[in-house]
Amino acid sequence: MSSPLRLGIAGIGTVGVGTIRLVQRNAAMIAARTGREVTISAVSARSRDKDRGIRLGDYAWEDDPVALATRDDVDTFVELMGGENGPARASVEAALAAGKDVVTANKALLAHHGQTLAERAEANGAVLRFEAAVAGGIPCVKALTEGLAGNRVTRVMGVMNGTCNYILTRMESAGLSYDQVFAEASDLGYLEADPQLDVGGIDAGHKLALLASIAFGTQVDFDGIALEGIERIKIEDISHAADMGFRVKLLGVAQMTGRGLEARMSPCLVPAGSPLGQLEGATNMVVLEGDAVGQVVLRGAGAGEGPTASAVMSDVIDIARGIRVSTFGQPAATLSRAMPAEVATPAPFYLRMILKDRPGALAKIAACLGDAGISIDRMRQYDHAEGSAPVLIVTHRAMRRSLDEAIVAMAGTGVLESDPVALRIEDV
Ligand code: HSE
Repeated sequence: MSSPLRLGIAGIGTVGVGTIRLVQRNAAMIAARTGREVTISAVSARSRDKDRGIRLGDYAWEDDPVALATRDDVDTFVELMGGENGPARASVEAALAAGKDVVTANKALLAHHGQTLAERAEANGAVLRFEAAVAGGIPCVKALTEGLAGNRVTRVMGVMNGTCNYILTRMESAGLSYDQVFAEASDLGYLEADPQLDVGGIDAGHKLALLASIAFGTQVDFDGIALEGIERIKIEDISHAADMGFRVKLLGVAQMTGRGLEARMSPCLVPAGSPLGQLEGATNMVVLEGDAVGQVVLRGAGAGEGPTASAVMSDVIDIARGIRVSTFGQPAATLSRAMPAEVATPAPFYLRMILKDRPGALAKIAACLGDAGISIDRMRQYDHAEGSAPVLIVTHRAMRRSLDEAIVAMAGTGVLESDPVALRIEDV
């Protein structure tokens, strides 16, 4: 058997504990699969005294993750602290500078510094891998970099923030408001320390930026993602969309078009009967489309101790086996600069508005859409209450820009009780 692969693990929170448990519990199986033992030399965390319910006594302790990353008895540095900068970035940079391989679950770090870090890894003969950074236990990075490597990827989609999917599906099933379910999610400990990372779409946007880089051979471009969170989604949007056969999802979509890379993470509608439409609770789904394979759907736990540790170990095991895949699936120097598309591909839209009960009110709204070149596919008006009525319109394919023109015109008609809500309907 070859010499052991010796890990240094920084960050012993949920994912760190899960990773240490897997290394301990499955040691013999991992050695059989890789042909060498995977051991832990040293660990680091903010608090040494905390009871984490695992055995740490066999491992050296470092207060400073940078010192851990550069220890002689560490072959692979496993960064599980999180954070775009600070100790996570400093220790990953130190490990790579010392020529050590790095495995990380840190999506923010890679979404912002992925290109520089990938270049640094390659310059030092090291690998930098991040399966656990995207959709927890779902092996979507490996699916793209390896399983689908022979395909020209046409589109990547995903529900990649379990907290948002929990909030949206719970609002529908319990008929509760966004604020009520947000409070529940907070009590359940689902929300990140900064909840805006979840509900503002930032966490999911980081993940989409990483997948898009692999899929399209482009440098990670988080700033090029059109980002919108779920805070403005009302229970009415969810229940009325359901009446029209749709579900509301915080969905990431990335596709290369003739106008550049189109990437957005935003609330949109998907058919209720589609795999994405049927995704309940905190589960994640990643949908990959390639010119040869067609559509591949991956579903699983996007967070949590076991699932995320499973993803960390898949990278560790690759390294133990001597499998050395470039961070974004091809050498960093060959990744092209992403050119974000300024205009999104046309799509059908769902419009919800409250109309005053006046003769010709509906005709005025229809005229605004017609004047903007937008054709109506379906429409529904609900009972009038106190002189106004909710109206739902599903349009045929339209440019967002034309829809915005129509919405501005609607505001001038005097028949609206409130601003219309417009949500893109994705063809999934
Ligand atoms: N907060 C994330 C989620 C997990 O709810 O899916 C970590 O990215």
